Amino acid sequence: MAKKALRATWRNLWPLPATTVLASCVGRDRPPNIITIGACGIASGGPLLISLAIGSGQYSLELIKETGDFAVNIPSSDQTWITDWCGCVSGRNVDKFAEAKLTPGKSMRISAPYIAECPVNYECVVWGIVGCGSHDLVLGEIQQVHIDEEMVTESGTLDTSAFNPLVSFQLEYWNLGKKLEDWRFTRKEKA
Ligand SMILES: Cc1cc2nc3c(=O)[nH]c(=O)nc-3n(C[C@H](O)[C@H](O)[C@H](O)COP(=O)(O)O)c2cc1C
Repeated sequence: MAKKALRATWRNLWPLPATTVLASCVGRDRPPNIITIGACGIASGGPLLISLAIGSGQYSLELIKETGDFAVNIPSSDQTWITDWCGCVSGRNVDKFAEAKLTPGKSMRISAPYIAECPVNYECVVWGIVGCGSHDLVLGEIQQVHIDEEMVTESGTLDTSAFNPLVSFQLEYWNLGKKLEDWRFTRKEKA
């Protein structure tokens, strides 16, 4: 198969789809804030770490460094407008919770509130921050998980038929299509 050689650019990182999240944070004496993050990932299974690449000059990064905690909120694909808006204005001059009419949920284990309207929320304590150049990779250890009650199955996991997350793909917003298979289905086939 012939390949086209392309330059390594920011745009060319985005054939790699990623869940778009809203990170909520708070300062010691500053009100809660929200930042949209496209560069979010799972970093470790033990400790349970989630990673956010946050631009080194971002206001939200300042707040996260001040308190040492933040919440990661996964919006559904019908929350695209709010997700985009939170990524286009700064908490330096806008109260995003108030203007977007979002509800700060009281976290159980961290100072930052979660976003009650987002179906999935993780309370995280900063585990480490790695300076990577333009962005700092913020690693958060998950302390508590919240999922909207009606989206939880009897076995206590997310009901994937009830939640369609918002995905960034080639600097565009997408939702998920249909399920193909379970992970490791090839192993089951062999057995
Ligand atoms: C879809 C989308 C994804 C974004 N992803 C990131 C990201 O991964 N890291 C980052 O630092 N900024 C990202 N941004 C930009 C910030 O969300 C934006 O600069 C925001 O206004 C910062 O808020 P703050 O000043 O209140 O901290 C993204 C923006 C959008 C719209």
